Amino acid sequence: MPHSHDHAAGEHRHGHANDQGIKGALRYLRWLPRMWTSEINDAVVDMIAPRPGERVLDIGAGLGAGAVRAAATGAHVIAVEPTPFLRRLLTVRRALGRADVDVVDGTAERIPVETDSIDALWAVNTMHHWTDPERGAAEVVRVLRPGGRVVLVDERFTDPDHPDHDEFGTDHGPEHHGFTMVDADHMKSMLEAAGLAGVDASSSSIADRPVIAVTAGTPTTE
Ligand SMILES: C[S@@+](CC[C@H](N)C(=O)[O-])C[C@H]1O[C@@H](n2cnc3c(N)ncnc32)[C@H](O)[C@@H]1O
Repeated sequence: MPHSHDHAAGEHRHGHANDQGIKGALRYLRWLPRMWTSEINDAVVDMIAPRPGERVLDIGAGLGAGAVRAAATGAHVIAVEPTPFLRRLLTVRRALGRADVDVVDGTAERIPVETDSIDALWAVNTMHHWTDPERGAAEVVRVLRPGGRVVLVDERFTDPDHPDHDEFGTDHGPEHHGFTMVDADHMKSMLEAAGLAGVDASSSSIADRPVIAVTAGTPTTE
């Protein structure tokens, strides 16, 4: 989870290996309420605009704030989530809400679906976890059908204008875990190198929150 310690690109990165077991569960406890529903996920799913019958995919779905909302549109959702604890909770949530969501073990670097099989995909607050962003970008492009839609967003908690800056933007406590902000232009160029056209990268704002956003095939952000 984010804290305010921005590193130079590539200097430090942590991966989902840190999110396994009891340590992973503890790390996410204080985040769980905002991972159940969140304005940023609502806004990102609105940008993706899933249509009934489409196959859409949430990378690092967490508790399914985006996945469950997307399923309500009639799309079939694949929720890719590497942390076992979160996968278990999302599986229970899916069953309770009878949401059309497949919960699968995977990462941005290893998306367990066929090539060209996804109409649209998104990731909220996971890019800073990607252990290999170049490979993640290649996977995004591999699984997306030609003309598919992409929204990749990380909130900039370190921006003093972020409403949660005081809570999450200045945390150097015991949960410190090496938050590395991905550079939006860098992600854009990695997606382009993997073959995606029409990519837009910005430092912008979604749901009144400062973000970096990388999009393709959707309306661009403010
Ligand atoms: C801050 S949570 C965000 C969860 C959800 N997207 C949301 O907005 O509520 C970060 C998520 O990234 C996942 N994650 C960690 N490493 C990842 C990786 N390499 N690829 C994709 N997701 C990863 C974590 O398990 C966690 O669910």
